[in-house]
Amino acid sequence: MSNQLESILQSRASVGKYQTGKQIPQQDIQELLRLATLSPSAFNMQNWHFLVVNSDEAKQRLHPIAYYQPQILDASATVVICGDLDGYQRLEERLTPSVEAGILNDEIVKGWSEMVNSGFADNPQAQRDEAVRAASLAAMTLMLAASGKGIASGAMSGFDAQGLQKEFGLAKERLPVLLVTLGYPDQASWPQKPRVSVQDVMSIV
Ligand SMILES: Cc1cc2nc3c(=O)[nH]c(=O)nc-3n(C[C@H](O)[C@H](O)[C@H](O)COP(=O)(O)O)c2cc1C
Repeated sequence: MSNQLESILQSRASVGKYQTGKQIPQQDIQELLRLATLSPSAFNMQNWHFLVVNSDEAKQRLHPIAYYQPQILDASATVVICGDLDGYQRLEERLTPSVEAGILNDEIVKGWSEMVNSGFADNPQAQRDEAVRAASLAAMTLMLAASGKGIASGAMSGFDAQGLQKEFGLAKERLPVLLVTLGYPDQASWPQKPRVSVQDVMSIV
């Protein structure tokens, strides 16, 4: 592991208190989201979507949906990381650039498409699991990418997913999985908390 990545992992903290009024330029948020899209996903399905809540008006709408947690108003922006339940239906389109790059061929794409259709089409649990996996990996990449650029972040599951879908007009197939706040930490924000020892959470077989 490079020292740079290790030091990001050692220092990243979930920020609950942000300096207000300090904005991340929109092009920087876009670059962070581009880095987040480098996350892996099953079959490279890329079954994620990022809704950036950036304006004061949108933050006011999100605040009650996130149970009035103050960081929604104080952070520069909050990214709603969504997983698409119907992402499997767009697999061929998502893989076209890999065919054009000569990494995959049509035969592989056809085989994978058949596999995902039989695995996901009539299986809401599998659709949901894959949406949550993809969105969670993208959320972590986003937070690490932000740390690398000196931007603090915080993951949040404390929100009403159905209320968010309704308020922001998301399609029912677009599942809001996590909120990630982005901004600059206030001095009062907690540092990274200690973890239990790795021996307590691992087993080797
Ligand atoms: C899935 C998930 C949901 C979380 N939800 C919230 C939340 O709703 N509000 C909040 O203040 N922090 C939330 N957190 C932050 C955690 O409390 C935090 O990651 C944990 O205490 C460890 O803190 P650290 O990363 O700074 O060491 C969430 C974190 C994760 C990964």
